[in-house]
Amino acid sequence: MSHQENRRPYDECLNEIRATIDGEPDWVANLANTAAILFLKLPFSWVGFYRVAGDEMVLGPFQGPPACVRVGRGRGVCGSAWENDRTERVPDVHAFSGHIACDPRSRSEVVVPIHGTDGSVWGVLDVDSREIDDFSEADAEALESVVRLLEEKIGPSLSASI
Ligand code: SME
Repeated sequence: MSHQENRRPYDECLNEIRATIDGEPDWVANLANTAAILFLKLPFSWVGFYRVAGDEMVLGPFQGPPACVRVGRGRGVCGSAWENDRTERVPDVHAFSGHIACDPRSRSEVVVPIHGTDGSVWGVLDVDSREIDDFSEADAEALESVVRLLEEKIGPSLSASI
């Protein structure tokens, strides 16, 4: 089913993420809990993070099936969101030139860039669905709100190297 955003509990997710990461400076722990909260509360097949490391991104905390470890700048949906520094909402990944098929069952996805305190892209939040056209603009905006919360609460730890 498509565009169920009105019944998707993003406010609950935001509240739980805020309560969980509050006062905790470790970004691995915070992104791991954020992925777990989103994965448990939302009907998506993969939720996770990639972080910029030189000229590629490396897989970070996630929930769902094992995923590709490294993504080059400009490659796939994640690499495009990084290169263009903008949210990518892809209704049909099979129609997206260069899509990286970690899970062949994945059909649509949203990728939101995450910024460090210097304003550059630190990494991305990647959310995948096995339903075609499963993300509305409202879903993308809600996931952007999650990223803004992370940037606000744990920005300095995102700017430090692991
Ligand atoms: N689909 C992504 C790659 C990451 S996996 O979906 C977890 C892409 O094309 O960027």
